[in-house]
Amino acid sequence: MGRIREACDLDFWPERLPPPREVLLERVVGCDGIVTLLTDRVDAELFDRAGPQLRVVSNMAIGVDNVDLEAAAARGVIVGNTPDVLTETTADLTFALILAGMRRLLEGVEFIRRGEWVTWEPQGFLGHDVYGATLGIVGMGRIGAAVARRARAFSMPTLFLGRRPMPAMAAALDVEQVGSLAELLERSDVVSLHAPATDATRHMIDAAALRQMKPTAVLVNTARGPLIDTTALIEGLDVGEIACAALDVTDPEPLPADHPLVRHQRAIVVPHVGSATLTTRQKMAGIAADNLLRVLRGEQARHVVALGG
Ligand code: DGY
Repeated sequence: MGRIREACDLDFWPERLPPPREVLLERVVGCDGIVTLLTDRVDAELFDRAGPQLRVVSNMAIGVDNVDLEAAAARGVIVGNTPDVLTETTADLTFALILAGMRRLLEGVEFIRRGEWVTWEPQGFLGHDVYGATLGIVGMGRIGAAVARRARAFSMPTLFLGRRPMPAMAAALDVEQVGSLAELLERSDVVSLHAPATDATRHMIDAAALRQMKPTAVLVNTARGPLIDTTALIEGLDVGEIACAALDVTDPEPLPADHPLVRHQRAIVVPHVGSATLTTRQKMAGIAADNLLRVLRGEQARHVVALGG
């Protein structure tokens, strides 16, 4: 904010909750650029209110599913995002969820909090080995690849599903590209989602997909909530179609405390914290400021989101 304030007339929304829609639409009028969060919907209506003065939307996230890219492109508005700096941080969180899900960490914590830890039991909280388990990565972008690198240290045979053949990536990371989601789901002990939220990926994990997974499998999502059909997931967890869902992102988001997924014994839900380290959020903020200021100065943004990219 300091850097933006030095260069621009800054209008800043100071509240913890996102601006109400009407307020956002009012305050965008007269702006040459806006810095947005993933909680702000940036669509044709907003672009029309802002008018041709708006030149740049700088989203402080790698994901841009909150931004209508076609509407932006049609009006010549540049959209920036903050990739790369959050790759390793998000991969770390993914691994934390894999470990927590496979080893039933949350159940153990809650057990102690309820005062039920009275002895060591040979069959207490039996989970599954992460070491040697087969990992299936859906979406082999930067974060997927960073998760695959971590999996090597755990001797996890790793499969992945990509949008196109990626033989060089497969060889470099010693991972196997599979031909279909069904094959990945059937063979994996852990399924980790790393695809963007698009019309094509919406509910890619639905009731049928859950049935294809192993009953001992852990499903991890650090990408976007709508990749999973929430209703189907709750039903799948209820009947034991999979062992656990470990989620950093949900649909809807946020979830209320009494939501069945939050309360579910087989689910671990954390509040969209994949990139939440001090260092990474500072870097994301820096890039968001850079993207904005560069476009306003007539330069190329550091990270521009291209349609279909
Ligand atoms: C992103 O950047 O898209 C994450 O979801 C938040 O860091």
